[in-house]
Amino acid sequence: MTEPLLSVKDLRTYFSTEEGIVRAVDGISFDLMPGERLGVVGESGSGKSVTAMSIMRLVEPPAGEIVTGTVTYHGRNLLAITEDEMRAVRGGQIAMIFQDPMTSLNPVYTVGDQLIETIMLHQDVNKRDARNVAAQALSDVQIPNAADRLDDYPHQFSGGMRQRVMIAMGLSCNPEVLIADEPTTALDVTTQAQIMDLMLRLAADRGTAVILITHDLGVVAGFCDNVQVMYAGGIVERGSNDDIFYRPQHPYTWGLLGSMTRLDEEQQVRLHSIRGAPPSVIDLPDGCRFRPRCDFATDRCAQELPLLRKIEGRGEVACHHAEELDLEITRAVGAAG
Ligand SMILES: Nc1ncnc2c1ncn2[C@@H]1O[C@H](COP(=O)(O)OP(=O)(O)O)[C@@H](O)[C@H]1O
Ligand SMILES: [Mg+2]
Repeated sequence: MTEPLLSVKDLRTYFSTEEGIVRAVDGISFDLMPGERLGVVGESGSGKSVTAMSIMRLVEPPAGEIVTGTVTYHGRNLLAITEDEMRAVRGGQIAMIFQDPMTSLNPVYTVGDQLIETIMLHQDVNKRDARNVAAQALSDVQIPNAADRLDDYPHQFSGGMRQRVMIAMGLSCNPEVLIADEPTTALDVTTQAQIMDLMLRLAADRGTAVILITHDLGVVAGFCDNVQVMYAGGIVERGSNDDIFYRPQHPYTWGLLGSMTRLDEEQQVRLHSIRGAPPSVIDLPDGCRFRPRCDFATDRCAQELPLLRKIEGRGEVACHHAEELDLEITRAVGAAG
């Protein structure tokens, strides 16, 4: 069996706030295999970005703290290495693309300067060679006249082109892992699909593993090998792309499917919508965190936090009633599909 490239175990990241302790990520475990495309989905506030920031060790102390857990990468726990060692990993071996390119691109430097700086930080090349690598990186993301555009400033690019620049920057050092956090959320649907396609094709060409974070299940449909669904700091369901889209098990996933727009199909699927609002991760209910919004909750759900478990012929789910719900969900998905 192939070893995982990145292995997250029992990660918990909390923030101290005036209102109390925010349990943003509360005991998640998952593996990323070499070259895998893993989708991470969930409503806003479910802990997706904090998961990514924890892996990259970008959680800001003293308010933010990774309280337990390990992130194993090539036999090393990234949460235990020195900041200098981490700096070499960040950008070089594990790169991250953020939602809003304007917050990660510096407006006062040209795109070329920023690309060249990243490339020189992680690769043993002189400035002239770094410029060539940078021009190639822009050309790889299909920016016309790449060599000339190196001298332009971020504001001279359109939103979609800026996001391409971010992808170029993320991939410029040939990382083994690319974490893309809502990389296309600010763009229109057509541009989103083009950029997603481009990013995943480039990653596949290079064998880069991708963690694709999004609040929109439609974005990962057809693009990812595996998908995990987050709710209130935990993972409630995980499976192959087909498990999640054709054999969903958790009522929450079911609800997400009901409210999505698919990028890979014209068809709109309407199944079920989720009532209520996501819980505050300060005062989490005992038992299942989804219980207050769940139509199928029982007394057991109020008392016992369901753990992720594998269901025969399905993916993994954290629901006490997966077996009983299975028939109902299959019927509803079948009827809509
Ligand atoms: N710096 C911070 N200080 C306090 N709370 C935070 C901070 N960053 C994130 N959180 C909280 O952690 C939870 C998870 O946030 P986040 O991971 O950003 O969600 P999302 O799934 O939308 O990416 C939210 O409740 C958010 O308000
Ligand atoms: Mg986020």
